[in-house]
Amino acid sequence: MTAALRYATMLVAGLLLHCCVAGAAAVLPHYAKDRTVGVGSCASSLCHGAVETWKDSPVLQNEYITWSRSDKHARAYSVLLNERSREIVRRLALPQPAHQSDLCLDCHTHNPPPAQRAPGFQVSDGVACEACHGPAGRWLSSHVEPGATHAKNLAVGMYPTDNDVARARLCVSCHIGNAQKMVTHKIMAAGHPRMSFELDTFTQIGPVHFRIDADWRQRKGSWDGVRAWAIGQAVAAQEQLLLLQGARGRDGLFPELVLFDCHSCHHAMNDRRNTAARLGAGPGVVRLNDANLLMLRQIARRVGGDAADFAQQVGRLHKAVATGSDALTQSRVVTTAIESMLPKISAHRFSGEDVRAILLGLIDDGIDGQYADYQGAEQAVMALQSVAEFMGRQKLLRAAALQPVMRRLLDAVAEDEKYRPAIFQQTLRELRTVIETGARP
Ligand code: HEC
Ligand code: HEC
Ligand code: HEC
Ligand code: HEC
Repeated sequence: MTAALRYATMLVAGLLLHCCVAGAAAVLPHYAKDRTVGVGSCASSLCHGAVETWKDSPVLQNEYITWSRSDKHARAYSVLLNERSREIVRRLALPQPAHQSDLCLDCHTHNPPPAQRAPGFQVSDGVACEACHGPAGRWLSSHVEPGATHAKNLAVGMYPTDNDVARARLCVSCHIGNAQKMVTHKIMAAGHPRMSFELDTFTQIGPVHFRIDADWRQRKGSWDGVRAWAIGQAVAAQEQLLLLQGARGRDGLFPELVLFDCHSCHHAMNDRRNTAARLGAGPGVVRLNDANLLMLRQIARRVGGDAADFAQQVGRLHKAVATGSDALTQSRVVTTAIESMLPKISAHRFSGEDVRAILLGLIDDGIDGQYADYQGAEQAVMALQSVAEFMGRQKLLRAAALQPVMRRLLDAVAEDEKYRPAIFQQTLRELRTVIETGARP
């Protein structure tokens, strides 16, 4: 069952609090049954293709210009024509070129079945408006009629991108994958880049084509970067564990390697790190990519129930993966725990005290050696940036004072091949000192 379907079922069963996660039940645009009209229908200068933003409109109106000029999603299809993609296709011996293979098109464009394509739709548009906002067949005309509201738009098939859980599921479906589409280890070994994703950071990189102001809040509710970060972690961890449990979780004799920490296999043999020691699993074991789970442990300490219990469950999962006994059962236990955490995170208002505790908790985990694996360190840096920025905006610390150390943390994870856990650990110690001494507002 897909994640969206599972949510729908749980809603019917009344298990989820309707207030906060109702939007999470929405069918992802990729699987919606409505007709896709194509970006041409959004791009007119009287619609979302204005060169200048409008003063008297609740939305910017120049979204198409932002997207087509500087959003990488606009060229997601055209990368399928480049040499790297041709090489991937050659190595995988695919029967068709990348721009004709659903294997690639399912993430590099909006790719509905032919019967759902209106005449204006072009597959070459890439990841365009309807890939995120949902096929517009039923809402194209109604969303501009007098009396249109967000709720009415959603009722006729617009996707709730404003809902954190729904937005996380949307981005994660392409940036990590799901049961229907994923970049496997084979595709990566053929030349596809490694994937990494963090909802708040990737939203900020944008470029954003929307403005979160009083009017947005009034129409759509609250927007909180730290909450989005936390929900992004939960949804990503959940999706990864579901992949492990599902049919895509195995490849021949081995599990699907993309779900594991890349550098637990890919580093030089004379570089003895004994990284697995952090899990108490003994030397020489392949580790699950636990980057998101590491973040979630800190989130669990502030929201969503028994943190010690969650940490233990994750610990048991690592042991089960290393010993082979009951790894699937244990991964289901963790998935269930995350499931019950999600509505609580959605409903949580992160206080200054919460974010400070999360920031220090993440740093202390690192000082304790928990980011010895590169992917944990990479995820931690995105988290630290996201949380520190939030604290800066709230005047809980002087973000400028952190910048020099932050920049060195970024440098430390800039290239996975050059990552040195000991240097990262030392830089985190310095960050802690700066926060304790020099960054008070
Ligand atoms: C599960 C979704 C998914 C699938 C399936 C997928 N990709 Fe990607 N691909 C992505 C994402 C997301 C990125 C961007 C990664 C990033 O920058 O974080 C990407 C990046 C790339 C890039 C690098 C683009 C650049 O700007 O340098 C190439 C080339 C590429 N993909 C080709 C392919 C080909 C060829 C296939 C089919 C064999 C394919 N992809 C299948 C999601 C996918
Ligand atoms: C990669 C996903 C993605 C793509 C592609 C995308 N959007 Fe968005 N869009 C978002 C997100 C996320 C938001 C912010 C949340 C919200 O307001 O629902 C947003 C917000 C908006 C808003 C502001 C709504 C408001 O209430 O203030 C408009 C209008 C909009 N998008 C139009 C477009 C148009 C037009 C295109 C195509 C040219 C497009 N979007 C492409 C994800 C996307
Ligand atoms: C239909 C699949 C799809 C969805 C949905 C999607 N993306 Fe992407 N995204 C891609 C692909 C493919 C690329 C790579 C494009 C390229 O490199 O040219 C990409 C690239 C990006 C990049 C540029 C990364 C870089 O390395 O510069 C950001 C940022 C991003 N996406 C954020 C998001 C966010 C945030 C969401 C959810 C609101 C989202 N994406 C939803 C497929 C998707
Ligand atoms: C369990 C061990 C293991 C894990 C985990 C693993 N790989 Fe691999 N990887 C291999 C093996 C084995 C090969 C084949 C090496 C060869 O053919 O020489 C390989 C090959 C590759 C190659 C091609 C190298 C070449 O010489 O052509 C790339 C790229 C790659 N992996 C990337 C990744 C990424 C990215 C991840 C994490 C998302 C990852 N691997 C996780 C074992 C692993």
